[in-house]
Amino acid sequence: MTASRFPLEPIETASIDELRALQLERLQKTLAHAYAHSPVYKAKFDAAGVHPDDCKTLADLAKFPFTTKADLRDSYPFGMFAVPREQVVRIHASSGTTGKPTVVGYTRNDISTWASVVARSIRAAGARPGDMVHISYGYGLFTGGLGAHYGAEHLGLTVVPFGGGQTEKQIQLIQDFKPNLIMVTPSYMLAIADEVEHMGLDPKSLGLRVGIFGAEPWTNEMRQAIEARVGLDAVDIYGLSEVMGPGVANECIETKDGPTIWEDHFYPEIIDPDTGEVLPDGESGELVFTSLTKEALPIVRYRTRDLTRLLPGTARTMRRMEKITGRSDDMMIIRGVNVFPTQIEELILRRPELSPHYQCVLTREGPMDNLKVAIETAPGVDPSSAAASAAAKQLQRDIKVHVGSSVVIELKAEGGIERSVGKARRVVDLRPK
Ligand code: DLL
Repeated sequence: MTASRFPLEPIETASIDELRALQLERLQKTLAHAYAHSPVYKAKFDAAGVHPDDCKTLADLAKFPFTTKADLRDSYPFGMFAVPREQVVRIHASSGTTGKPTVVGYTRNDISTWASVVARSIRAAGARPGDMVHISYGYGLFTGGLGAHYGAEHLGLTVVPFGGGQTEKQIQLIQDFKPNLIMVTPSYMLAIADEVEHMGLDPKSLGLRVGIFGAEPWTNEMRQAIEARVGLDAVDIYGLSEVMGPGVANECIETKDGPTIWEDHFYPEIIDPDTGEVLPDGESGELVFTSLTKEALPIVRYRTRDLTRLLPGTARTMRRMEKITGRSDDMMIIRGVNVFPTQIEELILRRPELSPHYQCVLTREGPMDNLKVAIETAPGVDPSSAAASAAAKQLQRDIKVHVGSSVVIELKAEGGIERSVGKARRVVDLRPK
């Protein structure tokens, strides 16, 4: 195997001035394209009293209205597309929990842009020429599998397009084919590692060098746990279907300090989720994206509901986002205190008696919301043992001290928490509707 590296694209190391100039030019084109070809955007801009010509600087973007999931739902299925349907070569959709799916479309150029940003992501994650990648993100309407696939092929890697599920078979093929990289949700990586251990083997024996994990929030503590167990570098990939799919941002393996946003294609803003006001870099809030090169579905100021902050570039000129704390949808309010599953995850991972398989269960008693954290004990630890209950008590105290909430801990034996082959369900809401 060669130790050579893939070269970076010039834009990845361009000066900030060059990058901002390119962004402005692309932003102006995107706004004009959206206004001219998508009646939904035309109506939204007109209602807000703005015209694409009003965008003279990047800061002028703040004058334009936000786009939300509701806009996409209301124009279901293809109403927001800015090209004739015949020019759309691919459709994806995200199911959501209620109602109609959110449908997105791509022209041939969009597919090629997407492949290039995913290729860039996989390269940033440490792929080398000659590598093989095993893809366990689901194929189909979900953007994970096909997005990863096209990017890996674009980079010239050998791609094993497995998709989700059939864990034992995945393991067999990983053992036989010896891929260097795996692309999978962090929660499903854990399920694969569990299964390998059940087979009496060490997950390190799989020989994976890099895992490119995303599609759900995961903490730095989870990163350390997976790296130690599977013996690989765990790198964060971020994206969402409305903006493109995986590969909107990706961590660089040399720094592992939060995903670098591929700002030449996706312009980020952080807003105060309550007022919509744009916040300066470094402040936490809701991440908003505007696509800079998309044709079929230009997306203007899309409210992701993901909470993070923008940080200066390190390994690249482009800005980074801090690892996502959570989605505003997943925020639980327990007796007035905001709680995210990731805060609980961090604390669970401090206790060796507990496993990283957990769920937050919300119930209501009268006017009060209660939170129960259901967790599996680590393999070999009996949930009714003294060691397990001591760990549960300590965790309960940690959550009270660090998060500020009183919660109930329920320990479960191995297999007691549902496993997902894709995104893990961290919050189960049993409150009456
Ligand atoms: O999950 C795209 C994707 C596939 C990303 C594979 C990475 C890897 P959606 O199904 O539209 O698209 O879900 C998007 O998932 O708004 C975040 O809430 C969450 N998400 C995605 N990546 C990350 C990440 C894909 N690295 C939603 N960290 C986003 C935290 C993530 N949350």
